[in-house]
Amino acid sequence: MKVEFFKHNVDKSDIKSVEKVLGSLFLSTGQEVSAFEEEFAEKFGSNFQARAVASCTAALHLALLAAGVKKGDEVITTPLSYVATAHAIEYTGAKPVFGDVDPETGNLDLSRVEKAITKRTRAILPVHLYGQMIDMKKLMQIARRHKIAVIEDAAHALEAERNDIKPGELSLGACFSFYPTKSITAGEGGMFISKRSKAADDVALLRHHGSSKSAASRYGKTYQHYDIPALGWKYNMTNIQAALLRSQLSRVEKQWKRRDEIAHQYADAFTKAGIAFPKTEAGVKHARHLFTIWVNPKQRDSILHGLQKQGVGVGVHYRPIHLMSYYRKKYGYKPGDFPNAERIGASTISLPLYPKLTNREVRYVIDRVRAIV
Ligand SMILES: Cc1ncc(COP(=O)(O)O)c(C=O)c1O
Repeated sequence: MKVEFFKHNVDKSDIKSVEKVLGSLFLSTGQEVSAFEEEFAEKFGSNFQARAVASCTAALHLALLAAGVKKGDEVITTPLSYVATAHAIEYTGAKPVFGDVDPETGNLDLSRVEKAITKRTRAILPVHLYGQMIDMKKLMQIARRHKIAVIEDAAHALEAERNDIKPGELSLGACFSFYPTKSITAGEGGMFISKRSKAADDVALLRHHGSSKSAASRYGKTYQHYDIPALGWKYNMTNIQAALLRSQLSRVEKQWKRRDEIAHQYADAFTKAGIAFPKTEAGVKHARHLFTIWVNPKQRDSILHGLQKQGVGVGVHYRPIHLMSYYRKKYGYKPGDFPNAERIGASTISLPLYPKLTNREVRYVIDRVRAIV
């Protein structure tokens, strides 16, 4: 049997939506993007605004700029994430300052955040790892005390909640990814959401070269000149991507339910077998982006390869960012700096978790993991 690590959920109705755009005049940013932004924001609440971009990395970069992060500043984040989180900070010229993670969840340990704050700290960038939201109420208390902005990396957390708080609700804004392994996808894509108009406006300006008017908004009227009041980037989303994503929005909750069901099957089986995995804390609605197990670091790679050989798709999320050679060379980070993140990075194996997974495949994964571990 071969169980893929991931299968996307693009269906015929999504393809039809894309065909419609392809037969229309505007392929790049236009009506379809605006409609997707409105529908996406509505999922979070009527007071949210959404700004679609080319990737979550782009959303993080622009959100940090909207928070006023610049060269010479520091931004506190977690070392246990995809490298995009820290890279987005690097793009602004600021320094990523890492705090160690909670050994039971893998999320940024909030007790370390306050200790990492200096005169230069401009923002905090937490990641809701694997789909489990960190305690945003607690983090915001720290941030408000020090007058520091918070931007959420919610790439894993589209469906997440914690004590009825959703991503973006308390912070300056939250960033999402539409990479193929995410809940909804357009191959690539990202979104920034915020309750603050100024932050949403800043992201809108910077995503398209800093242009005061988009091509679509100029079309159909007497020709209007545009100004470039700021240096922006080419980070806009196309109508083609937006059509694909819009069409998937209505299935988000149903697909989450199936992933949650599979995650419970894994959790029950691995608890019985004495195999460790991250804890889900009280009050959390876990978005179930990834299910990872923790094995003996000395055996991790042989277990990883053993599972692959038996047809089980696997991943590693994540080897910590501070030990990547770019960050070691630039900032002098070294093994031992963040022991919890390093331990998890050395012991973690991600298993298949997506709605198309059949019960037979889930049983096969559980069976193989039990046998090999
Ligand atoms: C936690 C996290 N942040 C950011 C990103 C970057 O997302 P994108 O590939 O859309 O730029 C990812 C991508 O997988 C991620 O897992």
